[in-house]
Amino acid sequence: PSISSLGSLGHNRVSHFDHLPQRISTIGMSTQVPRDSEEKTERLMRQVLPRDKNLPPVVFHYIPWFGSAAYYGEDPYKFYFECREKYGDVFTFVLLGRNITVALGPKGNNLSLGGKTTQVSAEEAYKHVTTPVFGKGVVYDCPNEMLMQQKKFIKNGLSTEALASYPPLITAECEHYFEKELGFSPTSPGPKTIEVFKIMSQLIILSASRTLQGKEVRESLDSKFAEYFHDLDGGFTPLNFMFPNLPLPSYRKRDKAQKSMSDFYLNIMQKRREGATDGDGSFDMLAALQGCVYRNGVPLTDRDIAHMMIAILMAGQHTSSATSSWALLHLAHRPDVADALYEEQKTLFGNPDGSFRPVEYGDEKRMTLMNSIIRETLRIHAPIHSIYRKVISPMPVPASLSAPSESATYIIPKDYYIVAAPGVSAMDPRIWKDANVWEPFRWSDEKGTAAMALNEYTTGGEKMDYGFGQVSKGTESPYQPFGAGRHRCVGEAFAYVQLSVIIAYIIRNYSLRLETPDGLFPKTNYRTMIVLPLNGLMSLTKRKQEV
Ligand code: HEM
Repeated sequence: PSISSLGSLGHNRVSHFDHLPQRISTIGMSTQVPRDSEEKTERLMRQVLPRDKNLPPVVFHYIPWFGSAAYYGEDPYKFYFECREKYGDVFTFVLLGRNITVALGPKGNNLSLGGKTTQVSAEEAYKHVTTPVFGKGVVYDCPNEMLMQQKKFIKNGLSTEALASYPPLITAECEHYFEKELGFSPTSPGPKTIEVFKIMSQLIILSASRTLQGKEVRESLDSKFAEYFHDLDGGFTPLNFMFPNLPLPSYRKRDKAQKSMSDFYLNIMQKRREGATDGDGSFDMLAALQGCVYRNGVPLTDRDIAHMMIAILMAGQHTSSATSSWALLHLAHRPDVADALYEEQKTLFGNPDGSFRPVEYGDEKRMTLMNSIIRETLRIHAPIHSIYRKVISPMPVPASLSAPSESATYIIPKDYYIVAAPGVSAMDPRIWKDANVWEPFRWSDEKGTAAMALNEYTTGGEKMDYGFGQVSKGTESPYQPFGAGRHRCVGEAFAYVQLSVIIAYIIRNYSLRLETPDGLFPKTNYRTMIVLPLNGLMSLTKRKQEV
């Protein structure tokens, strides 16, 4: 295995969902599908007969257990917007035997993401898929109150000092990768066509391991670590989400890789303690997590730390790879914005000889257009389209969210799932002008919708401390790409540093061109866990240095 074996990241995922109906039948679930037409008619009739007024309306479907799986799986946003027209902001759909209630709009996001821990549980929604990948005892395999403290440990690890040490390391990874792996040089300036998500996946893991994961992980990326990562990632698919344990090779590989990767981190910690290596004194998360103690006096064990390291790796990998890919594709599609971004780099960092001063921590705040590009990309391509919680006690829906024609307010029953889809309010034509158009300049209008939504998300509104420091609750903002409430992302600051340094490196050195087969902007692949571009091809040509 080598770096290039990471290239398949995310791609094998497609096949898992493609084969879903076929797999379902192989595990005997198809017996639940009615065979004779009488039974089928009866089931269909039940959907149109008067129903319990306290339950949210159910999305009409033909096949009982399968429900709306195909409709939702193909394009969840189309599904959400169309259902909203028919049923209002709150409705239930059936997904492979589960009842999923969707609550849309800022109020819907607030209902779910701002829900009390006595009503909604992320652990109950996610642990079957995350625990076999991360390992036991952390994240969703422990009480929520412990997760909140783990998030505090991670947040403390991402200190200003740590973040300030990252930009030169990320730039060095970019330089090495573009020259050594992609083969660009003054005599070989391109154009070279790349599949952008494949290249970004590699660059994100290289730069995350050089910074967050630590020197030893970076050094092993060319060998066994890549293999563990690949197999673990194969356990993080829509199929795993629906079926925690199947007798399939990918599940066995996942379990083996989890143990190997966890042991790998233990070994690094042991060696560092023995003084055989000190991680170069860098500000990595492994160093930050050692010595952390829960409020009740119990320290994090090495095994806990190893499992948190895996969680951090998985949390940032596809989210940041997808975001950087979409941003670059849009820049290739909109030369006017790419030119403006290049000019911004020249204005802020250009030297008289045509070279650029390196990006340093703090610079990202001055890169106004760069920030707008990342924000706008996250607005219409939020990597996570549906955020799940399990309902653990009956949940009343406020009257303002129930359909206007209903006199009663809804109650979401225990054991349903509730879904927030912040992407719906982020692309809602009722809220945003030209909602589906990627237009980064909307973020520079200080009085515009974007600025107000961002303000509500980052600094405005109610402040809360869930155990990892004070944050804006942000649950009612129409823009929340990093989630909101107690499960809000703690990797946002790192993601902005990583994304802006990588995009700055690319725009300074390369001009971009879209190379999709039809010449159009790529469509979206929703069949993966993370929202990805379909056939995201583009070419890069090395710029001539201006003197
Ligand atoms: C949580 C998005 C990068 C670590 C979340 C959530 C979202 C999100 C939507 C909320 C999930 C939920 O409520 O169920 C993103 C995006 C990223 C990104 C869009 C990059 C563009 C990262 C990075 C790290 C990270 C780089 C690690 C350094 C976490 C953690 C949580 C989280 C620890 C908390 C999970 C919880 O409390 O349940 N992220 N993330 N994320 N993210 Fe990120």
